[in-house]
Amino acid sequence: MHPIYFGKRSKKKIQLHDYIRSKSIPMSVILISTFNHYNRIFLYLIDSVWFSIVKVGSALEELLVVDSVWKRFGDKVVLKDVSLVVHSGEVVGLLGPNGAGKTTLLRIISGVLKPDQGTVSIKGFNPIDSRARKLIGFCPQEPGLIPDLTGFENMLFYARLQGLDGKSVVNRIKELSGIVGLTDDIDRLVRKYSGGMKKKLGLAITLIHDPEILILDEPTTGMDPGVRREVWRIIEEERKRGKGILIATHYMEEADALSDRVYIIDQGKIIASGSPEELKSKYGPTAVITIEFYRQPRDLGDVLRKTGLKYIVDGDIVRIHSSDPDRDVPRIVALIHGAGGTIRSLKVVKPTLEDVFLRLTGRRIE
Ligand SMILES: Nc1ncnc2c1ncn2[C@@H]1O[C@H](COP(=O)(O)OP(=O)(O)OP(=O)(O)O)[C@@H](O)[C@H]1O
Ligand SMILES: [Mg+2]
Repeated sequence: MHPIYFGKRSKKKIQLHDYIRSKSIPMSVILISTFNHYNRIFLYLIDSVWFSIVKVGSALEELLVVDSVWKRFGDKVVLKDVSLVVHSGEVVGLLGPNGAGKTTLLRIISGVLKPDQGTVSIKGFNPIDSRARKLIGFCPQEPGLIPDLTGFENMLFYARLQGLDGKSVVNRIKELSGIVGLTDDIDRLVRKYSGGMKKKLGLAITLIHDPEILILDEPTTGMDPGVRREVWRIIEEERKRGKGILIATHYMEEADALSDRVYIIDQGKIIASGSPEELKSKYGPTAVITIEFYRQPRDLGDVLRKTGLKYIVDGDIVRIHSSDPDRDVPRIVALIHGAGGTIRSLKVVKPTLEDVFLRLTGRRIE
């Protein structure tokens, strides 16, 4: 069953009414029961004919609303009419290549920069309002750490900036050090931390005041895959606790693995949005033919152009978009053999967000 949301927005109310009508349940026999659970309200419809309880979905609160934001630096328009929403209990990915405007948008949301036009609302507050600042935890691309203090002292410093003090703060720092896996290093000077450790400390600092909205700028850049998974797990935990999380990333797998919804941004514009699956089925090709070579053809570029299909060369792997793999695979194999290449592996796989971006822009996200 599709979740049905309701809320202030009339569109969502209509969805609920549509559901009720589609079930032919008269309004009068519906009992709607709601209760709070980690900021979510679950809605149950009790169908009086069958006495069955149907879980319809969860009503998600709009925590962050960005409406038609524009930003210019000198002559360069960096954000063009950007709108997005983050609800409670969801991870939203902001996916785009270098220079797309992700950091600029996150800095506007966090009140560090002002938009030239448009508005940002943090549960109804302007980002520069102190009430909005308490609701938000912003982890910048480069966390502002003080190298000559220990990890513990850095966290204490930021806790005090948030107005937190006393014994509970020490306990909170210990708890967060454990969550991000820095317990053994928390008393070392930050100057001696690796890049990945600094990112983890930045994330712990972001969580110190237990904010409802997390704004994370490239939270796993420079981390090895194991550490990246640990950070993903922390983000998942925060989502389960009902937080609304916005993550800027240029990692496809990250956007795909973590996000309930993704906004794809390119050259300052949101060019598509939806769940990863929706985006793949709407914009992705039917299939992707991936090929690894024992020996590359003499002129790989020429072979790929001759296929007449869109393609990505991703290291040693070539990804070719196909609407009809039965037709295209034999043709591609013949072209490769004709140019002196031999194939190590050939697979027909489902599209990824990388393929969606290629389809939309004709370019790769680097
Ligand atoms: N303070 C600034 N003054 C002038 N130009 C800026 C400033 N900050 C960002 N820019 C420009 O705005 C554009 C968007 O930059 P931004 O940092 O928002 O991109 P990004 O999507 O975060 O990229 P990355 O993936 O590399 O972090 C870039 O062309 C950048 O050069
Ligand atoms: Mg950035």
